[in-house]
Amino acid sequence: MSEQVWKPYEYDRQLSFVSAYGKGVAELLAPQPGERILDLGCGTGDLAYEISASGAHVTGMDYSAEMIERAKGKYPGLTFMVGDGENFATETPYDAVFSNAALHWMKDAASVVRSVYNSLKPGGRFVAEFGGLGNIDGIYQALKSVFANYYGIDADTRNPWYYPSLGQYASLLESQGFRVHTAHHFDRPTKLPEGKDGIKHWLLQFGDHFFAGFTVEEKNEAIDHISQAAQKALWHKDSFYGDYKRLRVFAEKVV
Ligand SMILES: C[S@@+](CC[C@H](N)C(=O)[O-])C[C@H]1O[C@@H](n2cnc3c(N)ncnc32)[C@H](O)[C@@H]1O
Repeated sequence: MSEQVWKPYEYDRQLSFVSAYGKGVAELLAPQPGERILDLGCGTGDLAYEISASGAHVTGMDYSAEMIERAKGKYPGLTFMVGDGENFATETPYDAVFSNAALHWMKDAASVVRSVYNSLKPGGRFVAEFGGLGNIDGIYQALKSVFANYYGIDADTRNPWYYPSLGQYASLLESQGFRVHTAHHFDRPTKLPEGKDGIKHWLLQFGDHFFAGFTVEEKNEAIDHISQAAQKALWHKDSFYGDYKRLRVFAEKVV
């Protein structure tokens, strides 16, 4: 399976809505001056910077060396490091772990939750938002039908995402030893940039796993078919709207 290749400059230019939506999650975190906070899957660092404005000491961690390099360049006063959310440890525990739009890229959720738990102080908070069950199902069903009908490929075998239900994720947190204060699973229809090219643009940014082994021509052809297939459900007036469904959790490490 090919890897997702994160493109930090395009991400900042064309996908700023991702971190813009995360500002509400940062408010839920309510960072305090002097707290040590980890931003897990920090991307190019915008939310880490936002959180640091509170006076908290923020460390950003991301699997992508390219995203971390860009984050360091943008925010030299903050600490950023390459690391894997499925397997990390810290010598000095954090007051809180924050994450926006990243946890659904980490399929071994039990390992993520264990690493987060072990990296927190007793009473520490885990505040996160990511894709929940049914997230972008309109885009995915269009892709799945095109892959089956034109290429004889079962897209499920290439699906890189983890989209749990509220019950599944809350249970996972509780089984690790978290107390779940709040968990919401809500619809967040999201206007995709680039007008009629919205689905194309979205797939070019986020869909690398699916197109392993495709030539450039095949990939462009497949994306055109997917855009057409998604039109009925997701095109409104002048744009495509991704049928995002988010899961937002606030949990506390109970010892
Ligand atoms: C959609 S971006 C979100 C970035 C940022 N949190 C924001 O709100 O703009 C998802 C990020 O998750 C990171 N990611 C994916 N898998 C990861 C893993 N196993 N460990 C750490 N980060 C990971 C990606 O490299 C990417 O930067």
